[in-house]
Amino acid sequence: MGIDVWLEKNSLNTGDTLQHVPAMAPNNAVAGSPVLNDWQSLKVRVETCQQCDLHRSRKQTVFGSGDADADWMIIGEAPGAEEDRQGEPFVGRAGQLLNSMLLAIGLKREQVFIANILKCRPPDNRDPKIEEVVQCEEYLRQQIAHVQPRVILALGRIAAQNLLKTDTAIGKMRGQRYVYPDTDIPLIVTYHPAYLLRSPAQKSKSWEDLQLAMEVYKGV
Ligand code: URA
Repeated sequence: MGIDVWLEKNSLNTGDTLQHVPAMAPNNAVAGSPVLNDWQSLKVRVETCQQCDLHRSRKQTVFGSGDADADWMIIGEAPGAEEDRQGEPFVGRAGQLLNSMLLAIGLKREQVFIANILKCRPPDNRDPKIEEVVQCEEYLRQQIAHVQPRVILALGRIAAQNLLKTDTAIGKMRGQRYVYPDTDIPLIVTYHPAYLLRSPAQKSKSWEDLQLAMEVYKGV
């Protein structure tokens, strides 16, 4: 990830130990969100979505990628230009750093499910508008209800504030244990990898957050 401490992997979990536990407690279900049995039909709904104006400027939707049965769900803000082109989240420079962050805690990208608050790219990479978040949030709730992750990692202010329905500053949210509203799914906040690319001095804090997320995952 670009700082020495990220290389201390001896005490970390390997991918082999991160098995999905199929029997989730019933209260891990996302309240008010009837789970679509068919992941495929949720995908089609997203692909054909015209609920906000972003459908006019997108090249394609970005549903999310990875293991739909993952223990870890990683949630970012919205697709950027490269993600809009490729139809996959976190494939640009920030995505490469995200991959390194995950590897630093023994996780391959394919082992987690990566999604965003928005499924379509906001023009010029502007912040999501409230109406866009509102129109899109049921898709993410359905994804979380389907994946039933054992831990959610929120990347950056936009993801954290929208997932936790708060306007608390990210600096205050990181390092804390939260739960995704109306569930028992633990949620940890860390800095967005794009921010870490601009401010590498903050990587050590993000490393602490990842370790906290791993502790939560292990039930420590
Ligand atoms: N930034 C995000 O928040 N999500 C992506 O998919 C890419 C960059």
